[in-house]
Amino acid sequence: MLIFNNKADLTAFLAPYKSDKSTIGFVPTMGALHPGHLSLLDKSIRENKLTVISIFVNPTQFNNAEDLKNYPRTLESDVEKIQGLSDDIVVFAPSVQEMYDGDTQSSTFSFGGLESQMEGSHRPGHFDGVGTIVRKLFEIVQPVNAYFGEKDFQQLQIVRKLVQISRLPVNVIGCPIHREPNGLAMSSRNERLNSREREQAALIYRTLNQVKEMFATENVQSITKFVESTFAAHQEFKLEYFEIAEEDTLLPVNERGNAKYRAFIAVLIGGIRLIDNISLN
Ligand code: PAJ
Repeated sequence: MLIFNNKADLTAFLAPYKSDKSTIGFVPTMGALHPGHLSLLDKSIRENKLTVISIFVNPTQFNNAEDLKNYPRTLESDVEKIQGLSDDIVVFAPSVQEMYDGDTQSSTFSFGGLESQMEGSHRPGHFDGVGTIVRKLFEIVQPVNAYFGEKDFQQLQIVRKLVQISRLPVNVIGCPIHREPNGLAMSSRNERLNSREREQAALIYRTLNQVKEMFATENVQSITKFVESTFAAHQEFKLEYFEIAEEDTLLPVNERGNAKYRAFIAVLIGGIRLIDNISLN
């Protein structure tokens, strides 16, 4: 399997695929690969002639220096997990210097308000960092199809908006959330939970499922109270936000209408920040 560390070599390798219009599928990641990432990779392998996976811990999307420092970097074992999946897969694992050329700054984006909600308001600058790196990567790889997980639903909607406002010819494909047997959404950050915390964290998805049931009959205010009291009763958690929002606009919902809705949550357990969401329709 080929591993590229610089843009020029990857671009030269991809040129024949582009000229004969073979489809290139792209899965951007920050590594520490788990079965959730691999499910995206699988879908891309099935749907494209060639799949590119990028592994790059993007400094500009971290609003917390400690989080960036502690983010797992496991390139060797990541490559082992990919090897053998397909012959038609290449890895792009650039350095920060290669991607940012000495100027580790984000561009500023306006994503039509999507960036002001939830993760956007709790992690200032996060989506400018995501937009900056995803645009750079799209320009290098020029994929036909790009795969993003619903685990980061707000990010998925923002990437869709990025493609629209930057007029990039990329199909953005959303993929379902992959979960542990106990329901915890798989995440590279789960590596930093101890086994007790991993079990306790099952409460997040259990609660989201209760929210889904309640949404059929109860109003948003009483559902929100239920979620707040559930987490208040478990001292190991700190609830950062819970929101029911419209899928397209991500605007918080007070009264339900005919749109598609999702519940979103961010909690801290053992100092580790976890996010999850569930479709309510
Ligand atoms: P990362 O957190 O590594 O995630 C890479 C991709 O895997 C994202 O599209 C994410 O939504 C998806 N993913 C993560 N956990 C998942 C799960 N349990 N089920 C399904 N999909 C899952 O998201 C990023 O990296 C970065 O922000 C990136 C887009 C690479 C830009 O730096």
